[in-house]
Amino acid sequence: MAPIRSVSMIGLGYIGLPTATVIASRGIKVHGVDVHQHVVDTINRGEIHIIEPDLDLLVHQVVKEGFLSATTAPQPADAFMIAVPTPFKNDHEPDLAYVEAAARSIAPVLAAGNLVVLESTSPVGATEQLSAWLAEARPDLKFPHQAGEEADVHLAYCPERVLPGHILRELISNDRIIGGMTAKGADLASELYGTFVQGERLKTDARTAEMAKLTENAFRDVNIAFANELSLICDRLKINVWELIRLANHHPRVNILQPGPGVGGHCIAVDPWFIVDSAPNEARLIRTAREVNDGKPGYVVNKVKEAAHDLAAPVVACLGLAFKANIDDLRESPSVEIVRRLADDGVGKILAVEPHVEALPASLSGKVELADAATALNRADIVVLLVDHDQFKAIPWGALQGKSIIDTRGIVR
Ligand SMILES: NC(=O)c1ccc[n+]([C@@H]2O[C@H](COP(=O)([O-])OP(=O)(O)OC[C@H]3O[C@@H](n4cnc5c(N)ncnc54)[C@H](O)[C@@H]3O)[C@@H](O)[C@H]2O)c1
Repeated sequence: MAPIRSVSMIGLGYIGLPTATVIASRGIKVHGVDVHQHVVDTINRGEIHIIEPDLDLLVHQVVKEGFLSATTAPQPADAFMIAVPTPFKNDHEPDLAYVEAAARSIAPVLAAGNLVVLESTSPVGATEQLSAWLAEARPDLKFPHQAGEEADVHLAYCPERVLPGHILRELISNDRIIGGMTAKGADLASELYGTFVQGERLKTDARTAEMAKLTENAFRDVNIAFANELSLICDRLKINVWELIRLANHHPRVNILQPGPGVGGHCIAVDPWFIVDSAPNEARLIRTAREVNDGKPGYVVNKVKEAAHDLAAPVVACLGLAFKANIDDLRESPSVEIVRRLADDGVGKILAVEPHVEALPASLSGKVELADAATALNRADIVVLLVDHDQFKAIPWGALQGKSIIDTRGIVR
């Protein structure tokens, strides 16, 4: 088996760009491909278009040394890696349109002996579907249509589980699941990841690898839903849920997570639906967990409405928009949803405090005022704590006399 000397990375976002860069830093030629010209131009200048610590320095270095370059059209390579978005449609059905477009774009430059790795979080069967799209576009090459079938072009599914903010470290240190559509596909993919992964490389078949990624996030979602459901029960029974969880977690085999205003981010709030879509009758707990977590923002909105009910012109300070503490990522954030719903429902004057961003997202601009914490706390009748940023933990909450405080994170004692 010839060593992998060149890689084409399709999709240069939060996953694709760091991965392409780390591979390039190992002295392998990487062609990055993205449909957005500004992404390509930015990278070719040795700069980055996403926020990730230290990535700018490494990109600058590998571009300068000639190991990483970007284009909008795929070029021939030994291995192709696909890291394009996999959102869901309105009815929670997975949308593989980006994967299909990526497949059709690489098909013309594929050659016998190539490896194609799908990294995008995908429903079970997506790698088989990818193989079928490639086979349709390239009838002259043999692709593995079903797991176990030998082929000219080898396929594998290798999910990503990095933590934003720590991607460069975790790309190297995390264990990787390597799901080959054939044994040869798994071997080749393992060789590719072996160029930069120091964690274990765990070989399996593609379907198991696809399900493993979804399972990891569904596990987190179900556990968060348990905590969120407890918070609703405790509200009704007038018990402090954080005190309850702290006490229950003293049991040596109990480890309940913390409740919050909902579940955000583009993974945990999305991926479990791929399981529900594939096995709707069986995935009852996973579906219910999604519904419990998706119901939490509406519950918080109603709590604010109750607090605002008797006020003539309420001012509501919403602390935090990010989907979790100490980051600037607002994607799929339940806090953004809560603030938007408060504004759309005319609950009062809404002030949003988010120290990690300089501008409001499009869904809030024109409806909500971005304020600093001191101004917002001073003006507010109602304070809604949505994100446990360190800056908010340091607020002297006891000094906020006469204001209603709705704490969705348990930091106000
Ligand atoms: N971001 C994470 O923390 C994370 C973690 C694990 C898994 N994932 C999964 O990885 C995949 C990619 O996520 P991301 O966060 O990198 O997304 P992203 O939106 O940051 O980047 C995707 C990139 O793909 C490009 N693109 C879209 N269609 C293309 C095409 N046909 N050809 C070339 N480029 C194309 C887009 O322009 C964009 O730059 C998703 O399936 C996601 O669920 C993400």
